[in-house]
Amino acid sequence: MTSAAAPMEPADRHPRFGHARVERVQRVDARLRQRLLTIWTDVSNAGGWVGFVPPVDRRDVAPALDAALRRIHDGRDWLIVVRVPRAAADPSGRVDVPNPLAPDEDVVAGFVILADNDRLLSEHWRWVIRVQIHPEFQNARLGGVLLDGAARIAADAGLEKLHLTVRGGEGLEHFYARAGYHEVARIPGAIRVAHGDDRDQVILVHPLGGDSDAGAG
Ligand SMILES: CC(C)(COP(=O)(O)OP(=O)(O)OC[C@H]1O[C@@H](n2cnc3c(N)ncnc32)[C@H](O)[C@@H]1OP(=O)(O)O)[C@@H](O)C(=O)NCCC(=O)NCCS
Repeated sequence: MTSAAAPMEPADRHPRFGHARVERVQRVDARLRQRLLTIWTDVSNAGGWVGFVPPVDRRDVAPALDAALRRIHDGRDWLIVVRVPRAAADPSGRVDVPNPLAPDEDVVAGFVILADNDRLLSEHWRWVIRVQIHPEFQNARLGGVLLDGAARIAADAGLEKLHLTVRGGEGLEHFYARAGYHEVARIPGAIRVAHGDDRDQVILVHPLGGDSDAGAG
């Protein structure tokens, strides 16, 4: 509940969607599955980099979502969602966490998965994958709120780092830098967006718990 005295950042120019709440969801019911499918499909069709090349429809995305949900329901991967009040289209609202609204008063605006890296000697960190905010809610700081909340949940669970890969040349490094991530490695030309359009794969780290150094090497 920090308030209006917070320092101005460039993103403060954007509209807000009211209070936001970030939480881990361990069991996804049919209603939430539909919402996640809508988000993933609409984000993909808006050009978001979340595993698909547009155009896609819900039937294209459903198998990937259901595979992700199997790992989430196994407890292997963690689903983190950001919710905003249903009446949140009010641009004068303010994004903040946490907030006490009941879940059925909220709408899921976006999600991220904290994925187990499946390595026995690497249990102190996770991959951050599928970062996405529904296009109707983008540019309102919800992506930042989601990443901050996910980092808090990870730190509370005892994790020491989060890693993430981004496609170079998209300008997203700035967004992630604001959330505490910095580059530790780059694989030149690893991603072929199209013939003649190879991009670097950039690996970012967010050290949790106040480490100033990523300790990668
Ligand atoms: C990336 C994403 C999660 C950011 O969420 P958001 O709620 O819009 O982000 P915020 O409002 O907290 O921050 C917005 C900032 O990120 C920047 N940004 C967002 N998407 C960007 C993109 N594709 N390329 C470059 N910058 C981007 C905005 O320009 C803005 O910067 P500014 O505040 O300096 O003007 C959201 O845009 C999204 O879902 N994108 C599609 C999916 C995707 O590409 N995910 C990333 C996978 S690595």
